[in-house]
Amino acid sequence: MWLKMYILFTIITSLVCYLILKWMKKRRYCTDLKRLDGNTVLITGGNAGIGKETAVALAMRGARVIIACRDVDKAEKAVREIKIRGHNVNVHHMELDLANMCSIRDFCKTFLQREKRLDILINNAAMPSVLDWTEDNFSMCFGVNHLGHFLLTNLLLGHLKASAPSRVVTLTCSNYKYQKLDFQDLNYNLLPFFTYCRSKLANIYFSQELDRMMEGKGVTAYAVHPGYVQSSWTYHYSILFRMLMQVIMFMFFVPCEMGAQTVVYCAVSDEAAKHSGGYFTDCRPATLRSFARDAGVAKKLWEASERLVNLA
Ligand SMILES: NC(=O)c1ccc[n+]([C@@H]2O[C@H](COP(=O)([O-])OP(=O)(O)OC[C@H]3O[C@@H](n4cnc5c(N)ncnc54)[C@H](OP(=O)(O)O)[C@@H]3O)[C@@H](O)[C@H]2O)c1
Repeated sequence: MWLKMYILFTIITSLVCYLILKWMKKRRYCTDLKRLDGNTVLITGGNAGIGKETAVALAMRGARVIIACRDVDKAEKAVREIKIRGHNVNVHHMELDLANMCSIRDFCKTFLQREKRLDILINNAAMPSVLDWTEDNFSMCFGVNHLGHFLLTNLLLGHLKASAPSRVVTLTCSNYKYQKLDFQDLNYNLLPFFTYCRSKLANIYFSQELDRMMEGKGVTAYAVHPGYVQSSWTYHYSILFRMLMQVIMFMFFVPCEMGAQTVVYCAVSDEAAKHSGGYFTDCRPATLRSFARDAGVAKKLWEASERLVNLA
């Protein structure tokens, strides 16, 4: 009797857990099948994770895809894979280290000379929660995730405007809500998780201000939270943490292909274009906390960033 009840209890509990996990992992797919023939797409960090899956999806739609990566070997390997899976030979890589302002400027110089247009820029690359410094003495998360993409986008704006209607999709994270920016210490580098959160909040302000500045110029901007995704970000951490995360990711996180869906949605969909400047997740606009919608802070961050990267 007790054994039967125990077995029944185990079966029911497992079923409930399975259904909860399935529900948690349920995500929407981008259903807009627009072709991108003749369009040029640039994806930072397209050699791994969400960036690589985005590259495959956009290559499938016929775009010329360029992945901008810091590691040439990884980039070459990824290009081969994207070509095969995307059924498109028009896939290329260029060298870019977002942790180095000289590298960004060199990259943009070559890109502007070599490429006639830029229709979609995807600011995807990022460093997870790590405490380190970039070549230019910015905290690693703020320097790569925000300032690197800030400089890159600004140097490529001419091409984006000339190719209008064009789009800039910037990857952020719902963890933005755990921190606020401190303008006395934008390079905050104390608690690893908080440095990441701040850089992802900066991505949101950047996207909003870019949208405001580009109003009427045919360049639209989107900030995307891709969901929690089984990508390769854990390789920056110890083996123990990686093993633990493998289990957690397997149970709760979605595959990279799924993580790329909202990015692709913002890159192609007419529906998304109606909400330019917005924050998106699960292939639809989402609501931000009020402090992350503060246009004054977004403008202040833009101006501070211009000074930091010597753009002004
Ligand atoms: N995974 C998630 O659960 C999750 C959740 C929310 C938001 N996001 C966001 O989604 C985006 C993609 O993340 P992911 O999960 O796909 O991460 P990932 O698998 O770790 O890929 C990150 C990419 O960024 C590149 N990168 C890092 N530093 C760089 C630098 N200095 N210069 C150029 N490229 C650099 C990496 O290149 P290497 O291979 O050379 O390191 C890699 O290609 C990020 O913006 C992340 O913040 C992810």
